[in-house]
Formats: sequence, C-alpha cells, structure tokens
Amino acid sequence: MEIFHDYEVGENCLLIDINFSSKPELNAELSELNGLVHAANWQISATVCAKRSLPDPKYFCGSGKLDEIKKIIDNNQIDLVVFNHAITPSQERNIEKALNCKVIDRTRLILEIFSQRAQTHEGKLQVELAQLNYVATRLVRGWTHLERQKGGIGMRGGPGETQLELDRRMLRQKIAQIEKRLEKVKKQRALSRTARQKNAVPTIAFVGYTNAGKSTLFNKLSGAQVLAKDQLFATLDPTLRKVIIPKLGEVVLSDTVGFIRNLPHNLVEAFHATLEEAIEADLLVHVIDYADEHHRAYIEQVHLVLEQIHAADKPIIQVYNKIDRLEDVKAHIIYHKDKPADVYLSAQTGQGIQFLYEAVAKYFNQQWLKGVLVLSTKHAKVRAELYQLGAVEKETISDSGEYQLALHIAKSDFDEICAHNKLELIAKFSHH
Ligand code: GTP
Repeated sequence: MEIFHDYEVGENCLLIDINFSSKPELNAELSELNGLVHAANWQISATVCAKRSLPDPKYFCGSGKLDEIKKIIDNNQIDLVVFNHAITPSQERNIEKALNCKVIDRTRLILEIFSQRAQTHEGKLQVELAQLNYVATRLVRGWTHLERQKGGIGMRGGPGETQLELDRRMLRQKIAQIEKRLEKVKKQRALSRTARQKNAVPTIAFVGYTNAGKSTLFNKLSGAQVLAKDQLFATLDPTLRKVIIPKLGEVVLSDTVGFIRNLPHNLVEAFHATLEEAIEADLLVHVIDYADEHHRAYIEQVHLVLEQIHAADKPIIQVYNKIDRLEDVKAHIIYHKDKPADVYLSAQTGQGIQFLYEAVAKYFNQQWLKGVLVLSTKHAKVRAELYQLGAVEKETISDSGEYQLALHIAKSDFDEICAHNKLELIAKFSHH
C-alpha cells in the first residue's frame, strides 16, 4: 500500500514560518526548515514569515496573510506550500482549498524525508508505520486524505461513510501487520546485540544533531562509505562497523539517525528502534557542528532526545567538529575528572582524530580490563562464567596446572564475578 507518493523531485516550494513567541529564534528555525526542504530534494522559491499570538483556527495563519501567500503562489508557480508547524487536517484542507495548492506540514515533511532515506528492512517498516499512523489521525468524517492520493487506499469509489470505514479498517489491519513484523525484526536485532555483548566488544554509538558530521566521522574512523551528504537526515538506519582503536583494540561503532529540534513525539516513538543502538551502547560520541552558531541550542536538543530514549545518563564524549571552518580553533582534547573527554577536531580533514582515539581508549581502558588471570583448578566455576561472558581471549595451562586466562572484560562484569564468588581475583590479574 503506497500512501505518500504524490510528491516529486524538484517541487517548487513556498515556506511559511510563524513566530508565536516573542523570542527572536526565527533564523535558526528557518535555516533548519530550509535544510529539511532541501533534504526532500525540493526547491525553495519564496519564504513568508509572520508573527501571531495564536494560530488561526481555520487557516492557521489568518486570512489576510493567506491573500498575500496566494499572490506569491500565482507569481512564482509554486507547487507546494510548506508549513514549519504541525497543522490540523481541517486547517490543511481549508488552506489547500483557499490557495488551490498542495499543503504539507512539518510532520509530513519529516516523514517524507524519512521515507526517501530509509534503507534497511527495519527502517522501511518504521517509516511505513509512522506514515500509516499519521494518515490514521487524518481520516476524518466526510473527508479522507487518501482519496486524493495517487494509488492510495481510497481508490474504490467516491467519498462517503462506507469508504471511510473501509479505509479505517484497512489501515488498522495494515498497522497491526507492520507492528508484528517490526516486533520480529526487533527480536532479531536484540539477538545479534546479545551475541555482540557476549563477545565482550565495547560498543560506541554516534549521536548528534542532524548534519553535524556523524557519517563523515564514522567514515573517517571505519573507512566505510556511509552516505555523507550536505543534507539533513542523510543517515536513517544505524550502521555498524568494527574498527581497531589504537591502544585499545576492537570496538563496534554505530551511526544513528540525526536528531532534530521538535521532532514530533510520535516520530520519536516510531524511530525508537533506530536509536536502540544508542541506548545499548557502552559509550556515546556526541558529534557537534562547532562551526554552527546555534550549536549550543542543538546540544540541548540532543540531550532532550537522549532523555526521551532513556540514554541521558550514558557516558558521552563530546566531539566539537568542523574546526577547519574556524580560524582560531586548533585540534585539542580536554580531560575531565568525572566524565569522558571533550575533543575538538575536523572529521573532514582528519585534524585531531588522534584525540578521539585517545579519549575512547582512555575511557575503555578505565572501564575494561585486559590481562591474564591465573586461576587454580578449584575455580572451574569462575572459569566457566568467564567463558560464558565471552571474556576469554586465550587459555593456556601453567606448569603447575593452573588456568592462565587472557581476558578482555568490562570492569563491572569482573567485579560482579568476584563478588558473587567471594573471590579476591583482582590480586591474580596481571595487566599487559
Ligand atoms: P545526518 O545524516 O543528517 O544526521 O548528518 P550527519 O551528522 O551524519 O552529517 P554528515 O556526515 O552527512 O555531514 C554533513 C555535512 O557536513 C557534509 O557536507 C559534510 O561534508 C560536512 N562536514 C562533516 N564534517 C566536516 C568537517 O569537519 N568540516 C567541514 N568543513 N565540513 C564537514
């Protein structure tokens, strides 16, 4: 069932941004909307900004403004009007009628981008689910959005109650079906994650505001060719790579979807699974576009999303990226006593990458143990537990018959084994 296929590449857009507060935040919001529209592969011909205290219930922006917009549409051959806000189905209908032009709101714009970008099976399912849920909230009496979609699910005849009920039932069934499929995919992912944890490989997830440079940094570190474009949301699906970090060893990196201000809550839910890698990771690398004057606001937005996905208390290395764009900033690292370091670098030129390696190695070397543990044969149970965790890299038997286990293990796991076996194992642990 295809629902959102009535947009084309190169749609000629008019953007509308209305400032409902007295704050002069308009520029950041507008430049973000510009980025979103470009990410959807559309063009921008005109922008209308206005101030209001409250949205107009019928036309959202008020009828006077609407006349002004109508003139711009006629003079510029606009195909699509893009609102930088969530508007109600009835407002959308009223505006479309008054302007005789397609209208899209911010939620649907983000969905459109998500749908263009999704690559993996899970990503596609998530987008489809989010789209269906969006449509479901817009199926209202006497008017169905689907009737106007090419190849939509409202093809069986004219408008009316029966068609509407049919649409609703089909939507419900389709939503249930996708939820079931998603559940299955999630289980599979959880399994592969457990396998990774068993291998005791530290995991690092890249998070950050969209366009901050996550994919560029990810590529630099992994040599992988993940899509990196000057577009918002170039990455939608988490991508995993194993890399070797000097003075540490193997780690798994995952690139995640870019965060965005005011991401509609239902979309956060829908994309929760794409962010699960971040929730499960041992360490987060928060990539920040330091050259963007709004970077402080974006850092806050990322923290808010991390809170929403219950990942706010994870250890975070803050990477201040794109220093090549700033004349007075050199690559450097700042250590902290009680949290991982901050790193200033350029993912593009590679300046300062060594500081990121350093910060990662330092963090994990504090958190993970690597060395040889010598156990007497009466500790076979402890040995079995270590194997079960996947922490044993190599084993030899000493001349006196003791187990010599080369381990790589999280300090917390090791402490736990020591505690419940009432052992002072640490005394027998020698670092390499
Ligand atoms: P999303 O997929 O939208 O979340 O973006 P992202 O955070 O993965 O950003 P991406 O790596 O796609 O980079 C966005 C843009 O910034 C691209 O045009 C990159 O070439 C550019 N970029 C990334 N890092 C740097 C840097 O260190 N310096 C400069 N000058 N540009 C950079």
